[in-house]
Amino acid sequence: MQKKWWHGKVAYQIYPKSFQDSNGDGIGDLRGIINRLDYLKELGIDIVWLSPIYCSPLADQGYDISDYYRIDPRFGTMEDMDELIAEAKKRDMYILMDLVVNHCSDEHAWFRKACEDPDGEYGKYFYIEDLKDGKLPCNWRSYFGGSVWEPLPGHPDKCYLHLFHKKQPDLNWENPKLREEVYKMINWWLDKGLAGFRIDAIINIKKALPWKDYPADREDGLCSVQHMLADAVGVGEFLGEMRDRTFEPHEAFTAGEVFNEKPGDLPNFIGDHGYFSTMFDFNETICGGSPKGWYDARPVTPDDYRRCCFESQRKIGDIGFLCNIIENHDEPRGVSRYLPAEGCHDAGKKLLATMNFMLKGLPFLYQGQEIGMENIPFHSIEEADDISTQDEYQVALAAGLSPEDALNAVARFSRDNARTPFQWTAGTHAGFTTGTPWLRVNPNYVRINLEAQRKNADSVYQFYRRLIALRKNTDYADTVVYGDLIPVWEDQKNLMAYYRRSAEKSLLVIGNFQNEAQRVTVPGGWKRILINNLPELETDGNAITLAGWQAVVLEA
Ligand code: GLC
Ligand code: CA
Repeated sequence: MQKKWWHGKVAYQIYPKSFQDSNGDGIGDLRGIINRLDYLKELGIDIVWLSPIYCSPLADQGYDISDYYRIDPRFGTMEDMDELIAEAKKRDMYILMDLVVNHCSDEHAWFRKACEDPDGEYGKYFYIEDLKDGKLPCNWRSYFGGSVWEPLPGHPDKCYLHLFHKKQPDLNWENPKLREEVYKMINWWLDKGLAGFRIDAIINIKKALPWKDYPADREDGLCSVQHMLADAVGVGEFLGEMRDRTFEPHEAFTAGEVFNEKPGDLPNFIGDHGYFSTMFDFNETICGGSPKGWYDARPVTPDDYRRCCFESQRKIGDIGFLCNIIENHDEPRGVSRYLPAEGCHDAGKKLLATMNFMLKGLPFLYQGQEIGMENIPFHSIEEADDISTQDEYQVALAAGLSPEDALNAVARFSRDNARTPFQWTAGTHAGFTTGTPWLRVNPNYVRINLEAQRKNADSVYQFYRRLIALRKNTDYADTVVYGDLIPVWEDQKNLMAYYRRSAEKSLLVIGNFQNEAQRVTVPGGWKRILINNLPELETDGNAITLAGWQAVVLEA
């Protein structure tokens, strides 16, 4: 693997709508982000990804773009964006935007023109088909529920494809003209000085054609899009072309949202001359999932968590660098998900942070993770904003769950959990806005907020700063960033441990995921403690007794 400038960095995702409001309208904005750049610098962040801020009806919170060349006025202006890029540069920081090009919004001019003249130039930017005897072209289920086909406005005899929401028509990547439009837009942003992109839902751009049904997998008679994706061949041609025409000439940094790449395809995606610089490791986030829906998912145990992390590490080997995440804007809060309820406290949160952060790869934090933000309680489905929460609630009801059970089931996975406003202070609306927040603030902000944690040397926030400092400490960086990862004691329940080894140094990372203490013996012993989430560590020669929820990084 070739070394890259970004390997030793730390990245952070901002969900702009919920980060910091600067003008009292209850919606986070670019000015709010600019005002918080020094905070991110203090934490130790280098690379910042902004979820979409382009013009959008916000049907899927900005992942439905109606104009790729303009900033949505709710988030600010193009001048704000230019200022953000410039201010980041001054601080040696890099800004990434979200590249959402599997689909656009049904309010995009291209789609409007396609509706006016489906047989014209813009009709070919989308997948538009005739209904044959009223029958849809195929039985795929959209990610947000219902058929992927929707009647084309103004043309009852035609329909268009949307793998996501009906307000997110899929762009037809088979059309070279569309691809040219996409590349032009990407280059326009990169020419502005943007460092790169996080690339949304990208595996979906290649459809298995011609349309065909797959066996239905639920009562609704539809089938998951996964079946089609498994059959789709040739996404690499699009991705390679996009890289050659845009990212590569600009030396842009790119992080792909890639699910379901084909076995053996990793080197093509993120090897030395891959389509992307890196991609996210979702192995933990998909663990326990069910084809039936959220209501049927099983909890992830600490041993599952360990297995998923190590599986990914073994799979990636020396091919490239994955991004390691605990959560993002599509997932519940990791501390509420991967820690059993009895472990969801400061020590447990620091333990999870240590286990994830010390893995090989690029640590990619999500806003609020650094202060240990948790899932939000749900009292009724009306409180949910997220469209997939609404859909999964209906799926759970249809499967026979009571309204109460259905609510509890979707509350565990709702994307709203991660989208509640950032908890800056213990003051009104957690210091997020002086107005009314667009989404309710988690009531635990009085207890969990940055202001309190900044002052407290033992806080989750200060602990993250220590982890980041270790990654950047010149004595250890080479081992933390490039050291081999060697799992140990994999059969010891509720214990996760691994070495990170380079030619110069050997680090041992150990975490105890239970209330009861656990003992391990370190062959060859160890020299010093680099990180400890508790004040003490009980040792006896080469034996170590980890207290409940204790995590340490030792120099071995
Ligand atoms: C990605 C985004 C998600 C969005 C979807 C459709 O998975 O992360 O938030 O709903 O793509 O754009
Ligand atoms: Ca605002």
